[in-house]
Amino acid sequence: MTRILGIETSCDETAASVVQDGKTILSNVVASQIDLHAQYGGVFPEVASRAHVEAIGVVVEQAVQDAGITMDRLDAIAVTRGPGLVGSLLVGINYAKGLALAANKPLLGINHLEGHVYSLWLTEPRRDVQFPALVLIVSGGHTELLLMTGHGQYERLGGTLDDAAGEAFDKVGRVLGLPFPGGPNIERAAQMGNAHAFEFPKARTDESYDFSFSGLKTAVMREVTVMPSAAARRREPGAEKHAILRSDVSVYDAAASFQKALVEALVTKTARAAKARNVKEVLLAGGVSANTALRMAMRAATDLPVRYPPLNLCTDNAAMIAAAAYHRFHAGLRDELDMDVKPMWHLSSTAYSEG
Ligand code: KG4
Ligand code: ZN
Repeated sequence: MTRILGIETSCDETAASVVQDGKTILSNVVASQIDLHAQYGGVFPEVASRAHVEAIGVVVEQAVQDAGITMDRLDAIAVTRGPGLVGSLLVGINYAKGLALAANKPLLGINHLEGHVYSLWLTEPRRDVQFPALVLIVSGGHTELLLMTGHGQYERLGGTLDDAAGEAFDKVGRVLGLPFPGGPNIERAAQMGNAHAFEFPKARTDESYDFSFSGLKTAVMREVTVMPSAAARRREPGAEKHAILRSDVSVYDAAASFQKALVEALVTKTARAAKARNVKEVLLAGGVSANTALRMAMRAATDLPVRYPPLNLCTDNAAMIAAAAYHRFHAGLRDELDMDVKPMWHLSSTAYSEG
């Protein structure tokens, strides 16, 4: 029996969790900063790191206590090393180092994206994933299409060329005057809207497996807003902050039409890649995989099994970090107590060959 404590502070959730054998969650504590950041309409890095510092001790203690164990019963401590906000990552990694040193436990630095992948191992029923599998990671910071051929083995097929899928949801949510984060609020609004009300640009139909969402965001702005400022008229980055919603536009219709266009873009290429690479399963992970329209469209687009995490494990959590660490731990991988953070870390397959 292997019990690993996971710690996650890469963005705006302070999280800790104990996972047994890479699949059974013994505890899962998430202290969300959403309310804190909502007033700024996005995640404010300095505010985030300060909130992590305040929360981390209590969150970790709670996770160990909820698991019904004590620190000495843990086999290892796993912490998100990147990618993410440098200040936020540092809080988690320094705390984890302190614990590892004090309790004399092995330390493992985990790639946040690999964490999202391993949230799929925490789903019910606990049937093992069949390789090769195609993984679509769609979160606030990332959109990655990966071929997974084994534990820790990834081939990157494509990703976003500009905004991440969740980022597009958040920016369009802001344009539509919906609260932060945009994703879940757009999904709710879309349920009451007509997805055919607006014809937003269709998916990129080129041969690559890359995505692009900034054009879609701009199209939404063009259709539904008046542009009072010069910056907004020139569609500069951040122009969505200055856009004013037209009074004759239905937020519900705009939300539904936007969501449909974005989901179609994701699903078309994912289904094509699944076919081309002859995979056995399609896996969705990351905050946007909570979206019901995406889940349903993906199921409709392929005959293959489509798996996604339970809702509470789609968005950032530490159980996925502990689950990802399990396979590395058993491959004998360990990190040094002086390991650094990797704010721009790509997910690559070196995972099981470096140790
Ligand atoms: O994975 P995550 O918690 O954080 C990152 O690693 O970035 O993803 C957060 C993102 C946000 O952009 C949020 O708007 C989006 O996931 N999201 C959703 C839904 N729930 C969260 N997007 C669409 N539909 C949802 N139901
Ligand atoms: Zn994430």
